[in-house]
Amino acid sequence: MKPITMTDLNQLKKEKRKFATITAYDASFAHLFAEQGIDVMLVGDSLGMTVQGADTTIPVTVEDTVYHTRCVRAGAPYTFIIADMPFMSYATPEQSCENAAKLMRAGANMVKLEGGSWLYDTISMLTERSVPVCAHLGLTPQSVHILGGYRVQGRDEESANQLIKDAITLEKAGIQLLVLECVPVDLAKRITDELQIPVIGIGAGNVTDGQVLVMHDVLGITVSPPKFVKNFLEEAGNIRAAIRLYKEQVESGIYPGKEHSFY
Ligand code: KIV
Repeated sequence: MKPITMTDLNQLKKEKRKFATITAYDASFAHLFAEQGIDVMLVGDSLGMTVQGADTTIPVTVEDTVYHTRCVRAGAPYTFIIADMPFMSYATPEQSCENAAKLMRAGANMVKLEGGSWLYDTISMLTERSVPVCAHLGLTPQSVHILGGYRVQGRDEESANQLIKDAITLEKAGIQLLVLECVPVDLAKRITDELQIPVIGIGAGNVTDGQVLVMHDVLGITVSPPKFVKNFLEEAGNIRAAIRLYKEQVESGIYPGKEHSFY
């Protein structure tokens, strides 16, 4: 087996081939996902909700994400692992370096931060110091109390233009991946076409280079899942088949369909 790298993901974008990403929090599921061909996993701070039972991601700490990153790396030695920097762990560039180092030492290949152009200096500092960065734009769950709930973002021209500007600025700062959450399909397409780096969508239609879903959503465990979610376990019948079906439907562009997208 050969480890997955950014070179592989950039090549997929160049060839217009889509890739599936899933959240993972422990070694057993990480091993199963890797076995079914999932090459990129996210140790999301969604673990605050899925594992810890909180109603937002805000209580999650760096120690929590470090612990889960170590678990996922143990189960999936060759997978490209993105680890979330939790709420308030990257408030200054210096603080972000200190905390990103902990996640990289735990086995992450890349760290993910939520936010727009204000992160320019932080991202420059991290990337100059050899920490690969993924940014997260659109619905950023750590800002739920500012956003006034889990809502679709970029619906009007002004906020759509701001998201495009943010994406371009963050690419200039040095991000190598972008997660785009809960935005209308046409905006997701404009951003995906504009950027050289791969864009991973969640609730952003089938126009992005990759997709990411929370594993509990894929497996139908979440009570009241959002509109963009599909319960692949229901159709596939068992966990391994559900993961294969998710991967196949992302790669072929079947998932997400119109019923899972915002217009
Ligand atoms: O924390 C998480 O799982 C995420 C995904 C929803 C993209 O950030």
